[in-house]
Amino acid sequence: MEQLAARLRAAGCVFAEDEAALLIAHEPDAVAREALVARRIAGEPLETVLGWVLFGGLRLAVAPGVFVPRRRTELVARLAIDALPQDGTLVDLCCGVGAIAAAVAHARPDATVIAADFDPRAVAVAQRNLAPYGATALVSDMDSNISVPIDVITACPPYVPTGEIPFMPSEARDHEPRTALDGGPDGTDLQAAVFAAAARRLSPGGVAIVETSHAQAERTAQRAVEAGLNPTVAQDEALGATVIVAARA
Ligand SMILES: C[S@@+](CC[C@H](N)C(=O)[O-])C[C@H]1O[C@@H](n2cnc3c(N)ncnc32)[C@H](O)[C@@H]1O
Repeated sequence: MEQLAARLRAAGCVFAEDEAALLIAHEPDAVAREALVARRIAGEPLETVLGWVLFGGLRLAVAPGVFVPRRRTELVARLAIDALPQDGTLVDLCCGVGAIAAAVAHARPDATVIAADFDPRAVAVAQRNLAPYGATALVSDMDSNISVPIDVITACPPYVPTGEIPFMPSEARDHEPRTALDGGPDGTDLQAAVFAAAARRLSPGGVAIVETSHAQAERTAQRAVEAGLNPTVAQDEALGATVIVAARA
């Protein structure tokens, strides 16, 4: 254990002891484990090496080449769980592995939860994560062919400004798809697309709950106004999370 932790520390892993313990628990056989350790030392995110991530108390599948859900996105899920009316319908756009949708479907078995992403690799993992909760995932862009009335749209779309991508940690820059990160010149292009879809698709009184950064919150809110929605800002300092909740009149 100490030897493995030392190797991980030398490779730049900040929580080397914790990671060593997780890798040993995941693969007790030292010879078989070596391939996993080599991937981690080469810079692959721990979560894709292990094949799972904790999100909202759930253990969800992740896979190489697909965005790893971040803890801060739990705020979107929490706000959605509170916003959904009884027996309501939620659509999670840009769903990745379906973390938001899974957390909502787990907490609100009365709800209909549908997730969508244009990346078939992400949708394949999302389908595995959502099946235990009776929710579904489909391959689609923002204009998904979902014909039911929608009460809540959630999204953590790509929102990194294009010019900041070279400065992201290598784990994201080199191991997550650019299409999961790049939000356009000021980071808000995909957020604007979510709000435009929400303005078309939400039932009257419905809300779009969209993750952003603290620095971009004002611009993201402006994008919601441009789409004809009424935005407010929600934050969770402990998670480092900022979310725009944009209501349709
Ligand atoms: C930042 S990741 C977030 C994934 C997930 N919501 C989460 O929090 O783990 C953004 C996701 O948006 C998807 N995406 C990007 N552009 C899209 C588009 N135009 N239509 C649908 N999905 C898109 C990417 O494939 C990626 O899975």
